[in-house]
Amino acid sequence: QDSTSNILLSSCLLSKNIQNFTYRSNSSSSEYIKLLTFSIQNLRYSLPSNPKPAIIIFPLSEYQLQHAILCLRQSSLTIRVRSGGHSYEGLSYTTSYNYPFGIIDLTNLNRVQVDPSSATAWVEAGATLGEIYYNVAVESNQTLGFPAGSCATIGSGGHISGGGYGFLSRKYGLAADNVLDVTFIDPNGRVLNRSQMDEDVFWAVRGGGGGSWGIVYAWKLRLVPVPNQVTWFNIYKSGLIEPLADLVHKWQDVGPSLPDEFFLSTAISGLWDGNGSVTFTGLYLGPKESAFSILSKRYPELQISESDLEEMSWIETTVKAAWVNSVSDLRNRGTSKNFFKAKSDYVKTPISKEGLIGAIKFLTKETSAYIIFKPYGGVLERIGGTDLPFPHRAGNLYNIQYVIDWTKVEEGMTDKYIAWLRDFYAYMGSFVSKNPRAAYVNYLDLDLGTNNWTAGTSSTVDDVNHARLWGNAYFLWNYDRLVRAKTKIDPENVFNNEQSIPPLSK
Ligand code: FDA
Repeated sequence: QDSTSNILLSSCLLSKNIQNFTYRSNSSSSEYIKLLTFSIQNLRYSLPSNPKPAIIIFPLSEYQLQHAILCLRQSSLTIRVRSGGHSYEGLSYTTSYNYPFGIIDLTNLNRVQVDPSSATAWVEAGATLGEIYYNVAVESNQTLGFPAGSCATIGSGGHISGGGYGFLSRKYGLAADNVLDVTFIDPNGRVLNRSQMDEDVFWAVRGGGGGSWGIVYAWKLRLVPVPNQVTWFNIYKSGLIEPLADLVHKWQDVGPSLPDEFFLSTAISGLWDGNGSVTFTGLYLGPKESAFSILSKRYPELQISESDLEEMSWIETTVKAAWVNSVSDLRNRGTSKNFFKAKSDYVKTPISKEGLIGAIKFLTKETSAYIIFKPYGGVLERIGGTDLPFPHRAGNLYNIQYVIDWTKVEEGMTDKYIAWLRDFYAYMGSFVSKNPRAAYVNYLDLDLGTNNWTAGTSSTVDDVNHARLWGNAYFLWNYDRLVRAKTKIDPENVFNNEQSIPPLSK
C-alpha cells in the first residue's frame, strides 16, 4: 500500500466522516501496535513475523461500517473484520496469504439495547459476551439471561457467527439458535435485515462461521428466563489415573442425559508425578437441594456434598465461568492472554475406560495441555441438524476440546507443543466421530485444511471441493447449502480467509 493509495483511501473515509483509523506506515508504531494487539487473544499470531494490516478502521456507526467496507473495496486492500479477536487462528487480524489487507475493527460498536418486556435485545456485533450478560442482567432486574460462551471478552460478532455454546445451551440452545433478526452489510455495502435477505443467507450467518458473508452490524437476540438463584459448583479431584478414568467414564452417561437445567462439564489434565486431575464444573438452574438430590442419585461416584454447592444469581455464575472478579469486570475488555493451539472432536459413543486411561496417561507427558468435555443432549438433541449450519445435534454425547497453552516464546517450543497436540489428537481418533471426523467451527483449526487464495480469490469447483476437507468436518451435510448462500451473497469472494466458504463463481 503506497502513499498515493493511502491518500485515496483516507479521502474516501474522511468524505464519509470516518475519522477513527490508523495506518501502519504513518502512525507512531507503538500506537498502531497497541490498537492492533489489544484484542489479540492468541499471542501466537501477534509476533513481528505475522503479517500486519495496512490500516485499522474503527467505525462508530452502521453508516460508517457500511462505508468502511466500500472504501476498502475501492482500495486494493482485502478486508478482515474483527469483533472480539478470539479467533483461534487469528483470522480476524492476520493472514498467511501474501496480500495487503485492512482491518475493520468493531470495538466501538458495542451498544446493547435490552427490551425486558419482549425479552429481546439488539446487540451491536462489537459487544463482548461480558457486555451482553452485564446489560441483560441489569436491565431485566436479573430475570433474563442469554445462552452463549464463557469467556467474557469473546466478541458477539465472531462467536454467534460460529454458533456459540455455553452453560445455558442444554436448556436454551446455542447463541445462534436465539438470533431473531440481524442487521447485515453485504459486500456491496447494502444494509439488509432478515426480511430483506435471502433465506439461505440468514441461515448461513447464524453459525456458518464468521468472515465469509459480509459483516453483521447487529444481532436481535431472544433472551431467556433465569431463576433468581441458581446453583454453581467446581470440584477438583486429583490422584491415580484409574479411578479418575472411572469417574470420567461414568460422566459420559450422566453429563449428556441430566435434566436440561443441568450443565456439568469436565476438564482433564495430567500431573508431572504421573497422576491425573479432573475438574467438574456445574450449573443448575434451580435450588441447591434439587441439584444435590439429582447428583446424589445420578452420579453418586462424584461424592459431592451439599457444601460443595453454592447458590447465587445467574450473572454471578457468568463471573465464575469467565474467571473474572466481579460483575462489573464482565465489561472489562483487557484480559490475560497466552499462546495456544486447540483442536476439537465430537463423541457419539462413550469412550472405553481403557481409552480414557490412555488419554490421561498421554496428558501426564505434557502438563501444558488439558482437555475439556462439554455435554450435549438437552434441547441440543431436539433442534434439527439442518435448522442452522451447526449440525452437531442429536446423537452427539459431548464435544471435546484439546488445548495446549504457554506463556512465552522459547526457541523451538511452539513446534514442539503443537506437534504434541497433534499426536494426542491422532491417539484420540479411534474413539471419536468418524467419516468425517467432526469439529466445531468456533474452535477453528487450520490443520483441517485451508483455501489456497495465493494466486487470487476467484473460486472454482475445485476450490469448493477442496474446502470440503474442513467444511464437512464443521458443517457435515450443511456444507453445500453454505456454498449456495455464499454464491448468492458474495459471488466475488470479497470476504475470504483461510477457511472461509468458497463461492461457486465459475
Ligand atoms: P474474532 O474477532 O477473531 O472473529 C472470529 C471470526 O469471525 C473471524 O473470521 C472474523 O473475521 C469473523 N467476524 C468477527 N466479527 C464479525 C462480524 N460482525 N460479522 C461477520 N464476521 C465476523 N466458543 C464457544 O462456543 N463457547 C465458549 O465457551 C468459548 N470459549 C472461548 C474462550 C476463549 C479464551 C477463546 C479464545 C475462545 C472461546 N470460544 C468459545 C471460541 C469463540 O467462540 C470463537 O473464537 C469466536 O469466533 C470468537 O469471536 P470473536 O468475535 O471474539 O473473534
